[in-house]
Amino acid sequence: MDRKQCCVKLSVQPSRGLVDKKFIVLVQNVLPGFQLTVHALYQCEDGHSWEAFARYTANASGTVNVSEHPSLGGTYSGVEPMGLLWSLRPVPGSKPGLRLRKVNVQTPMEVMISVYQGHQTEGFVDQVPLASVVVERWYMAPGVRRIPITEGGLTATLFLPSGSGPFPGLLDLWGGGGKLVEYRAALLASHGIASLALDYLTPKITIETGKFVDNQYFERAYRVLEQHPQVLGSRIAMLGLSFGTSVTFKIAAYSQVVKLRCAVCISGSHVQPIDGTLEQLLTSFSKNAVKTRINEENQVIWRDLLLPIPTDPALKVDVGRLQCPLLLVVGEDDQNWPAYESAQDIREMMERAGNSHLLTVLSYPNTGHLIEPPYTPHARASTFKTVHTREKVMALWGGETAAHSRAQEDAWRKTLVFLRENLYGGTNPGAASLSHL
Ligand SMILES: *[C@@H]1O[C@H](CO)[C@@H](O)[C@H](O)[C@H]1NC(C)=O
Ligand SMILES: *[C@@H]1O[C@H](CO)[C@@H](O)[C@H](O)[C@H]1NC(C)=O
Repeated sequence: MDRKQCCVKLSVQPSRGLVDKKFIVLVQNVLPGFQLTVHALYQCEDGHSWEAFARYTANASGTVNVSEHPSLGGTYSGVEPMGLLWSLRPVPGSKPGLRLRKVNVQTPMEVMISVYQGHQTEGFVDQVPLASVVVERWYMAPGVRRIPITEGGLTATLFLPSGSGPFPGLLDLWGGGGKLVEYRAALLASHGIASLALDYLTPKITIETGKFVDNQYFERAYRVLEQHPQVLGSRIAMLGLSFGTSVTFKIAAYSQVVKLRCAVCISGSHVQPIDGTLEQLLTSFSKNAVKTRINEENQVIWRDLLLPIPTDPALKVDVGRLQCPLLLVVGEDDQNWPAYESAQDIREMMERAGNSHLLTVLSYPNTGHLIEPPYTPHARASTFKTVHTREKVMALWGGETAAHSRAQEDAWRKTLVFLRENLYGGTNPGAASLSHL
């Protein structure tokens, strides 16, 4: 190694933080004009490795500041402070269709950031980096508590923010893949909201009886939050993504039990038979299976199942009934679900009903279905097993990586503001304090 390069200094600040916080990657002590490649490597819990990299040229002071200097190529280009995370992709030779999702939220994502000499594209594992540091990215802030919930036959996990509370609450529903997915609820708790991640498609009760849960399952989950001593029972929100949005619409519009302060619906649709069970809802989608499209890469596109948007009021949630603020987040390149078309129809329905003042729509060009917390790597397609048919397919979600990543950052920031305003705002929420946020 060139003696001049012996003291390359690499720093990442902060080296430990929440997954939605920015970091600054700084390379110092190289020669002016020195060419280098910054590389990020993450080995996820299932053993698959993900990487991102970008080529830089040091400035006249012998420095590269990833937050200010342009990448000249790699898995992203231009000035992208967080490109090393959002452009992570499976290393060459990995099996197709991977999606990066943290399972154990009690441990951090450990990402190794390294600097290599020269402008590189491949073969990183065979080279010795000039410097490396490991950064920790957490979903759970210090003091956040994780509490598994089984009462009432629920399969759920409650995340309580640090401090004694009481805190506003949130019911968090993921989409059609089922399973208890905790990372978003953990992150919301890190921002001061007691959040209950709920498995409603593959909970223990369904596995044991073979039956889908009834509508009361969601009301029982709501009661757990409402009655928890550290939750403000009058300040509860629901947040759903994809199929979780279908459930959220229905509960927000029709439940006699659940009283929401606000709702966030990401990449979903209000189209569904309004007086049916969860099972009937899934069956209604299956009935339209002929409308499934498969592209030349053998990726499955489901969005047409719900198109065109029906005019029959029995086939869509009457969003005119909503009485709480609603935030819709949609990707204009959503190939999985017609969230964009649905948002147009919802807007018209709410205008006709005179409650459009409750509606906020965030619509993002070149953005796909999986709108996740910021810096989550974009998966344009991934393997997906439907709960109803148990069929394993390659689902096309859509989106273009840089635009999708920008949308995730913007949508998350605005979602937190929306939740804060509606859950903490208004009349004095007692002990709840903005200092938790
Ligand atoms: C090089 O970049 C660093 C970090 O952005 C900056 O502080 C410094 O002023 C730059 N040097 C020159 C000569 O532009
Ligand atoms: C690197 O860039 C960030 C963002 O502009 C800035 O806050 C930070 O001070 C820079 N670091 C140095 C050493 O110039």
